[in-house]
Amino acid sequence: MAEMIAFPTRSEAVGEAEFKIAMRQVAASVAIVTARSGKLRNGLTATAVCSVASTPPTMLVCINRSASAEPLIQESGAFAINFLTDGQHGIARLFSTSKLAPEDRFVEGTWGSLETGAPVLEGTVASFDCRVESQVLSGTHHIYLGRVVGVTSLDTDVLLYRDGSFRRLEPAG
Ligand SMILES: Cc1cc2nc3c(=O)[nH]c(=O)nc-3n(C[C@H](O)[C@H](O)[C@H](O)COP(=O)(O)O)c2cc1C
Repeated sequence: MAEMIAFPTRSEAVGEAEFKIAMRQVAASVAIVTARSGKLRNGLTATAVCSVASTPPTMLVCINRSASAEPLIQESGAFAINFLTDGQHGIARLFSTSKLAPEDRFVEGTWGSLETGAPVLEGTVASFDCRVESQVLSGTHHIYLGRVVGVTSLDTDVLLYRDGSFRRLEPAG
């Protein structure tokens, strides 16, 4: 049986360490969020990504304001979300390696684009090309809401991240 990690209850805010321990238990789909401005392209591995609504199709991403790809989202007003397959974990590592030159992140896989010009990876579970509709500042991060203007998808398994490592989906029953 899985061990439960208990903390004393407090009336006020929760500390960063216990928040992180709790979030480590939560499996998330892994995406590469990309952007292009002029000749420059960049991206980052992200799990703080979700669908907001289908009318109109809208996605949400949370981007650390210190991420090297952030200025390209600001400049272009667009981003693409590429949900990786479980075979694309090498690409997740490239886009989460800090200080790697942007072009060195695009050495693996075949990259193209849909409507906005933001880099879209071939063979993903799903890719969403988005124009920024609005942004919210939340501490260290910007939350971007994006209207989906292009989409691709394949019937295949998504790459997961839990407790510090990349994982595969397995049938539960
Ligand atoms: C599994 C995983 C999920 C991540 N999710 C996010 C995220 O949702 N938002 C974010 O800003 N950074 C996220 N990061 C961190 C960025 O991928 C990382 O900071 C990236 O290397 C950007 O670094 P750079 O500023 O050197 O380009 C995640 C990293 C990993 C490994």
